Amino acid sequence: MSDRVPIEIFPGEVFAKTDDFDFGIRQLIPYYNEMLAAIARCLPSQASCILELGCGTGELSLQILQTCPTAEVIALDYSPRMIQYARRKIEAAGYGIRWRGIAMDFGEWAAGKKVDEMSESFDACASSLAIHHLSDSMKLKLFQRIGDTLKPGGCFWNADPVVLESSQLSQAYQKAREEWAIAQGTTLAEVRAKLGTSNNYGYSSQDQLATLEEHLQMLKTAGFESVAVPWKYFGLAVFGGFIPS
Ligand SMILES: C[S@@+](CC[C@H](N)C(=O)[O-])C[C@H]1O[C@@H](n2cnc3c(N)ncnc32)[C@H](O)[C@@H]1O
Repeated sequence: MSDRVPIEIFPGEVFAKTDDFDFGIRQLIPYYNEMLAAIARCLPSQASCILELGCGTGELSLQILQTCPTAEVIALDYSPRMIQYARRKIEAAGYGIRWRGIAMDFGEWAAGKKVDEMSESFDACASSLAIHHLSDSMKLKLFQRIGDTLKPGGCFWNADPVVLESSQLSQAYQKAREEWAIAQGTTLAEVRAKLGTSNNYGYSSQDQLATLEEHLQMLKTAGFESVAVPWKYFGLAVFGGFIPS
């Protein structure tokens, strides 16, 4: 029996201690670095303003700031703990002047809330491992709000877990994740012992996964074109598209 004291966190914070996130997520999610790099590579390198949804500890923010050297990144996350953690790291890396964290539920933004300290015009939007906490109807609303906020020709790239196409693939993925954790010198059970417990918060709850096809359809319904999947590994995918010029 575990003697772990359950620590309540917001959906998506994952680990009970924020300090465990950067190391633990790389043990839990195979090819996490490559997945984030794929998003950053899809963004326009000359962008001046990029919106990031669910920035967590700032790992994707850092990749974007490195890949898009002239971009200011506006990062939303409803967890003040995560924003504070991200800010410290980003300032330490020397990017503080180009990064602004705003503590807010992106579901509220999708539902139409205006954010005074944020422009409503971005060259690109990016997100990783966050939007799957919304219901499918809210995902669609969010994609529509992102589409309305992007400049003509702007793009949106998201990395999220998706429902796999068959139980055989789910089993193969589970095995791949176990082997990945072992290759990192741990086990999935050991990593999972560090997870926090969360109740619904704002518009987010536990994982609410959709299939990749459903995501692509939602993007098209929201007005995105050239919808594509530049990266996929079993149940993890980077997908997105462009708003017409
Ligand atoms: C798993 S973390 C991913 C963080 C980062 N994008 C990464 O890939 O390392 C998900 C983040 O999304 C945030 N989040 C989840 N639902 C949210 C919502 N409705 N509004 C704002 N932030 C949300 C959580 O607080 C958490 O920091």
